[in-house]
Amino acid sequence: MKGLVLAGGAGTRLRPITYTSAKQLVPVANKPILFYGLEQLRDAGITDIGIVVGDTHQEVRAAVGDGSDLGIQVTYIHQPQPLGLAHALLTAADYLGDDDIVMFLGDNLIEGGITGPVDAFTADRPDAQLLLKPVADPQRFGVAVLDDAGGIVRLVEKPADPPSDLALVGVYLFTPAILDAARVISPSARGELEITDAIQHLIDGGGRVRASVLDGWWLDTGKKDELLDANRIVLGSITRRIDGEVDADSTVTGEVVIEAGAVLRNSTVRGPAVIGADAVLEDVHVGPFTSIAPRCQLTRCEVEFSVLLAGCTVRDVPRLEGSLIGREVTITRTARRPAAHRFMVGDHAHLELPEG
Ligand code: TTP
Repeated sequence: MKGLVLAGGAGTRLRPITYTSAKQLVPVANKPILFYGLEQLRDAGITDIGIVVGDTHQEVRAAVGDGSDLGIQVTYIHQPQPLGLAHALLTAADYLGDDDIVMFLGDNLIEGGITGPVDAFTADRPDAQLLLKPVADPQRFGVAVLDDAGGIVRLVEKPADPPSDLALVGVYLFTPAILDAARVISPSARGELEITDAIQHLIDGGGRVRASVLDGWWLDTGKKDELLDANRIVLGSITRRIDGEVDADSTVTGEVVIEAGAVLRNSTVRGPAVIGADAVLEDVHVGPFTSIAPRCQLTRCEVEFSVLLAGCTVRDVPRLEGSLIGREVTITRTARRPAAHRFMVGDHAHLELPEG
């Protein structure tokens, strides 16, 4: 069985971060989203993994390399244009050969790993097995309709009038039959080869498509608020570890990770939160659900429920919350002190708050 992780795409919903970065490499609890899926594949015994990459291939290659650090062997497959999930799958056809496939969307996070679904698929070997999760807003997702025996009879993409609340989670298990199905479908109204159409084609041809319902959480990190929520939930499971330097005037409360090389002076950190290597915090309050990436410099500010990417500088900003800040961003304060700021800014942006 091979893994196929989709890490191409356009990432339009996470602009401007994705103008300059791969969305799958945005960190959640200071670890790139993509790594969670790669580790879960490995933990399910799948170490031969293809990664579909697009315009951001250099960054993905630089982060994952040949996969040996993660205990996997990675083959990169270049998708020239993001023409849909089924198109990404077809682009990988030569790599996949006659093997069974676990396809994992590189911007999805799921709780509890995939060992259960992989074992169930291997034991029963249906043509396809999909992971489903009941959601409150099925209109936003691919939705499945089941028969009494738990087989999937119909899939609908983003239905205005959802036939069920069971959304398709971004992990799919397939036999190679899916490749033939993907070859015969046509692009959808939005111009993409949809994986739901390929699976529906399998079903219509008499194929057996099983469902397993995911017990844990599932997070699709395609947008800022989803990403902050993913960060909140993943931080909820960290354990306290202080490897950095905390001076006598600083207080660290609860589940907090402070990486080696980080320095806290006269600061408080209230967990869950992570402070990356070589970050420097001086006269700062970090509130819960915050991830500060390596090399950030924070001075006289408060940050809560936010994700700061590597190398940011935040100085004299009274309060940041609900913010996703790209790499190397500088935010400095002028005289005005609004109670809260909410930003979504791209890498290397420079923000100055107005005086007065
Ligand atoms: P999506 O989030 O559905 O698409 P996208 O990345 O183009 O994002 P947006 O809608 O914001 O423009 O993609 C899910 C995952 O699959 C994501 O990791 C990107 C990847 N992908 C590909 O690798 N190739 C593709 O052709 C598409 C559409 C997505």
